[in-house]
Amino acid sequence: MDTTTAVIDLDLPGPRISRHVYGHFAEHLGRCIYGGFWVGEDSDVPNVRGIRTDVVEALRALRIPNLRWPGGCFADDYHWRDGIGPREDRPRMVNSHWGDVVEDNAFGTHEFMDLCELLGADAYISGNVGSGTVQEMSEWIEYLTRADDSPMAALRRAHGRDEPWKVPFFGLGNEAWGCGGNLRVEQFASLARQYATYVRDHAGNEVYRIAAGASDHDLHWTETLMRSFDPLDDPAAAGTPAAPFQALSLHYYTFTGTWQDKGSATEFTEDEWYRALHRANVMDQLLTRHGQVMDRWDPARRVGLVVDEWGTWWNVEPGTNPGFLHQQNSLRDALVASVHLDAFHRHAERVVMTNIAQTVNVLQAMLLTDPDTGALVRTPTYHVFAMNTPHHDADSLAVHLRDVPAREVDGGTLPLVSASASVKEDAALVSLTNLDADAPRTLVLDLRGREVTGHVATVLAAPETSSHNTADRPDAVAPAPLGTVRPHPRGLEVELPAHSYVTVALALA
Ligand code: AHR
Repeated sequence: MDTTTAVIDLDLPGPRISRHVYGHFAEHLGRCIYGGFWVGEDSDVPNVRGIRTDVVEALRALRIPNLRWPGGCFADDYHWRDGIGPREDRPRMVNSHWGDVVEDNAFGTHEFMDLCELLGADAYISGNVGSGTVQEMSEWIEYLTRADDSPMAALRRAHGRDEPWKVPFFGLGNEAWGCGGNLRVEQFASLARQYATYVRDHAGNEVYRIAAGASDHDLHWTETLMRSFDPLDDPAAAGTPAAPFQALSLHYYTFTGTWQDKGSATEFTEDEWYRALHRANVMDQLLTRHGQVMDRWDPARRVGLVVDEWGTWWNVEPGTNPGFLHQQNSLRDALVASVHLDAFHRHAERVVMTNIAQTVNVLQAMLLTDPDTGALVRTPTYHVFAMNTPHHDADSLAVHLRDVPAREVDGGTLPLVSASASVKEDAALVSLTNLDADAPRTLVLDLRGREVTGHVATVLAAPETSSHNTADRPDAVAPAPLGTVRPHPRGLEVELPAHSYVTVALALA
């Protein structure tokens, strides 16, 4: 089994991969908002109205489609009225989940919506169910999106914003089974219906409401939320469930140890390399299993699944605040991302959006900023997202893999090649990950159904599996052209370096 084959029918497009699968998450946690996005107008770091220019430019280059804010666990402690009005008058609060630090609310609703406008990204606001009220949530969406002289629209104008914003995505709580209130699912299902009712569509702003969903393999949570939908009597709408919310979320994190000792981001053994990728590969299984439960209640697949937290979670960088979740990001993280993204592409019919945690300086970040010099570093994970932009809003293509080497990991089997593909008009993109820590892999792309008139291959690789980028070596792991692609009677033959991520962009007649 020297050669792996990937058969792709280029003329058989499947469900569309929403660009929102490439969404991001920014919580008031450590240096994600403060120091990551927000430096304030008086900072020496170049900024627009307090928001870092370099961070905005780097994320615009990824075509960031949406940004989830303000949490995470922080969302269920957050009261939006504390974050509006003159900054010097804003009340302070304790960020009890993350470092027990005092939050001065300098970054609030107007700053977040300004950030979204600078990024060209849709806002995904995560509302407070755990410690908030229905009225508070109802007034927040009115404040954000109402056009006339309603009380909340008038308050927004008094704080300097005349036009309503668009808020397409709104979350009903976060991890309601844990930091979001330690609720039983039956109780939360009722609350989700109630809160969603008052997150109203104002002024033509259509909200997509996402109820806080399950963690990992908790199928009971998904089942109970799905059961809370009302079956419709209308035979014309058979299979269409109705509820005041439109989607459920799912959270899943990758680490190699336990929640108490998750493993190091950069110092790991070969076994830990494979364990991380094996656990990343579990995402495909989770999407299948939660999807099967959802299918029972919603065979027409109208209710969305939103994986609004995923990614690696390692022990914090030595010497940093344990509550700030600051970690390095190596080539291993990049491959964890590519394996997840392949799974999201394969489940495009149900997965309408995902948000990797978290954009800057926290967990599996796209960007790291130096607290002393302000220097910005793009992580290996950033480069996977950059290489994958052609998948945004493209139609998924099934990839049939043959002769894939595998490895036994923790009693399960890890295939050592992961792949996905998509097509948009006269272009296709094939994603190929070689998970083998040591061996390169020859792979034949058996391309059928359409004529291929050209190709461009790009590789993300590095000498070590733990290679990563720092301010001194910002491009230690960076994409480069891949020279090892040859014509083959069935399409193309690609030599995948050991531990690498490769994209092959195809021009189609
Ligand atoms: O992303 C960090 C935390 O992980 C979030 O605040 C919470 O929702 C999850 O447990």
